[in-house]
Amino acid sequence: MNDIAKTKVSDELLIWRDKFPILKNSTYLISSSLGAMPKKVYDRMHEYADVWASLGVNAWQEKWWEMSLQTGNLIAPLIGAGQNEITMHPNVSILQSIIVSSFKFEEERNKVVYTDLEFPSDMYVYQNYARNKGAEINVIKSEDGFIPNTKKLLDAIDEKTLIVPISYVLFRNAYVMDVKSIVEKAHSVGALVVLDAYHAVGTLEIDVKELGVDILIGGVLKWLCGGPGGAFMWIKPELRNILEPEVTGWMAHSNPFAFENEMEYTDTAYRFMNGTPTIPSFYAAQEGPKIIAQIGMQKIRKKSIHQTEKIINLAEEYGYKINTPLKPNLRGGTVSIDMPNSFEISNKLLSKKIMIDYRPSAGIRIAPHFYNTDEEIDILFEALKDLTN
Ligand SMILES: Cc1ncc(COP(=O)(O)O)c(C=O)c1O
Repeated sequence: MNDIAKTKVSDELLIWRDKFPILKNSTYLISSSLGAMPKKVYDRMHEYADVWASLGVNAWQEKWWEMSLQTGNLIAPLIGAGQNEITMHPNVSILQSIIVSSFKFEEERNKVVYTDLEFPSDMYVYQNYARNKGAEINVIKSEDGFIPNTKKLLDAIDEKTLIVPISYVLFRNAYVMDVKSIVEKAHSVGALVVLDAYHAVGTLEIDVKELGVDILIGGVLKWLCGGPGGAFMWIKPELRNILEPEVTGWMAHSNPFAFENEMEYTDTAYRFMNGTPTIPSFYAAQEGPKIIAQIGMQKIRKKSIHQTEKIINLAEEYGYKINTPLKPNLRGGTVSIDMPNSFEISNKLLSKKIMIDYRPSAGIRIAPHFYNTDEEIDILFEALKDLTN
């Protein structure tokens, strides 16, 4: 085992464990799928019910109207965004649809370029909706199904390219894409980069401005411990007011309470909102990002590198196939390992309350977060040893 995996780092982070009830009754190693629920969410859901019960319709004015932005403001420091630049939405599929609806795919610039390793939500919207709007879709195939062909991707981005929708961290094996080079190439030919940072926000240190991306989307479900129903979007402020999303609604109007018959887009981030937001999920969504901001991404990333390294070392020792990059700078917070009968083994682990997940062709995904102990990783590998012998 090499030094970084052996060293005990940032165990000060374990003080957060008692704020996450599930850690008491399971070995929870799957924050890339669903982050553990912060205990405070019980109170926040109660608060939601209280507000509704006591304020009734006044809740909109007093609490709920601004909640999309307020929730986004808690995510802003985690990606280097400014205040009031991020809005909340139900999921990434809807966000990609809103984005596609904001563009015209005209013959001279209608190309969309991405890899075949993207999450289905992203690919389906471009293959269907964007193509129907006139987009030419160019999917760059990976040779081994895990590592993107970045050179081919860069070569395919040309003067006809309008959008490059890519993930920051790939969902199957946590490969970290070379976002900076992709942005550089895209901008040199006048194309825009839409970054799905679902597997990056909450586990990598991110600065949207430094990365130079045009649009960043993601969700609070996984590494941000914010539960379902909280996807977020940041759009470069200078781009925001040029776009006019066709997928829209009354909240995107400059004067929504005038209930006018014609659309006149607001110049605020609400320009990309549409109908009534999913208010209850915003209450749940806020506690995880607050904790993560309080700890700081640098400490979280440092611990993640240590624990993913430990997983890789144990997987090597036990002879499992590792589908995640071995170099720390090329991997996010998850390690995917494979072995004969991975799917059956993953179900047996779940029945022992060792929480991991399984993805076809990737194998078993193991995703420790700031609240995990090194001993929990040992518990997982002891169980794997029993199940694979
Ligand atoms: C990279 C990525 N994007 C998006 C999603 C979720 O998409 P949606 O919000 O449409 O369910 C996931 C979920 O696993 C993902 O891994």
